Amino acid sequence: MARIAVFGAGYAGLVTGACLAEIGHEVAIRDIVPEKIEALRAGRAPIYEPGLEELLEKNRERLRFTLDVGEAADGADFLFVCVGTPSTYSGDADLWAVWTVIDEIPAGMRGLLVMKSTVPVGTGEKVRATLDAQGLENVGYVSNPEFLAEGTAVHDFMHPDRVVVGAFRPEDADEVAALHEKLETTIVKTDVASAEMIKLAANAFLTTRISFINEIANVCELVGADVVDVAKGIGLDHRLGSHFLRAGVGWGGSCFGKDVSALKQLAGNSGYHFQLLAAVIEVNELQKPRAVAKLQKHLGKLRGKRVAVLGLAFKPHTDDMRESPSLVIAARLVAEGAEVRTWDPVADARGLLQGAQQCESIAEAVAGADAAVIVTDWPELAEADWAELRKTMRSPHVIDGRNLLDPEKMRALGFAYEGIGRPTPPFGALPETEEPERKLRQ
Ligand code: UGA
Repeated sequence: MARIAVFGAGYAGLVTGACLAEIGHEVAIRDIVPEKIEALRAGRAPIYEPGLEELLEKNRERLRFTLDVGEAADGADFLFVCVGTPSTYSGDADLWAVWTVIDEIPAGMRGLLVMKSTVPVGTGEKVRATLDAQGLENVGYVSNPEFLAEGTAVHDFMHPDRVVVGAFRPEDADEVAALHEKLETTIVKTDVASAEMIKLAANAFLTTRISFINEIANVCELVGADVVDVAKGIGLDHRLGSHFLRAGVGWGGSCFGKDVSALKQLAGNSGYHFQLLAAVIEVNELQKPRAVAKLQKHLGKLRGKRVAVLGLAFKPHTDDMRESPSLVIAARLVAEGAEVRTWDPVADARGLLQGAQQCESIAEAVAGADAAVIVTDWPELAEADWAELRKTMRSPHVIDGRNLLDPEKMRALGFAYEGIGRPTPPFGALPETEEPERKLRQ
């Protein structure tokens, strides 16, 4: 059992802290936001993450929450840094919160500083020099990047593909590796710079795969191929693998955008133009409004048309809307003059999306709509009774931005349905039964 202080009660800090407690360690979680600490002390998780609240409850005995650095660090063998590193206007990572933690480390502290936050390569060297300058030579430094994905973070921590530990001294790497001994996994021990790069390169490669399949999808649309079958066909090649080959309206979330941009910026600052990443980012930017362009092909001008935007979170099982394609799509629809109704089971865009109306149910969002756009692959949307929903729509158009639904079934139900990168009959080819209704409206 080790005593661990975790700095930052965001997604990474809370999940890491709760899971470290679950595997037997004593954990103190420190944050600067009083409301978060109060909520945690009252047994509530300030974020929505499946399994987290249960884990916090189950390990109450081994978890403490505090606003006070000294209290968290007192007696700790490890200081985990889990604070946010957002993008600055230049695309570099903003390390303000990281440096604040370093500044606050109490004098005379011993133990290991473990960097979980995603930082540019070279940060470890700078932190080491700063610790030495602060008289904290007895605090070791280890880079231990996190690979948790929101929505599955607890599972990802407990069953990691690998744990990466980058250290200046082998004995420091061994200590951090030992913390994870209850987890069945591969430990990758390396130097600090390589550990920092592993994290950035992993996210950059994942986004490259998504942008790649999205471009294949766009070409599929022009040549009549089906990207779902193409992804399956290439993914079965064990050298390629099947993950992160789902075409859609683009990748979002708080990590991908900032990490890819931080790596591109890091390369640029070091004198290298990372051409491939520039394209990966641009493809993603262009992918989001394509859903709106598809709608325009079906409906013509969008002014006065009612459009349901289904799903706001950047992916299912989270309430996180940071960098979500839904925000770009909804904002474009509003800009085109459409009457936008949104729905999401947990994410709330009220106050975020000017001119859009948030609805309580899928049925409410699509009632009277000229079209629905699926932006997040929530299971609720796959399970919805589309036959019933269709009856309430003004015209049955569905743009499926996540290829969530079965095109054949949707067309059999009378929808003008279009996915991403899938063969689509000529636009406006609604089944016969729709004709009288359509004529009436003209
Ligand atoms: C991502 C990584 O997957 C984690 O390994 C990493 O630790 C984390 O960033 C981080 O750096 O903190 P996350 O942002 O939670 O995790 O979400 P993902 O599940 O990776 O999805 C990101 C986006 O890509 C979503 O918008 C999703 O819809 C999209 N996506 C994903 C696709 O469009 N196609 C796919 O095939 C997969």
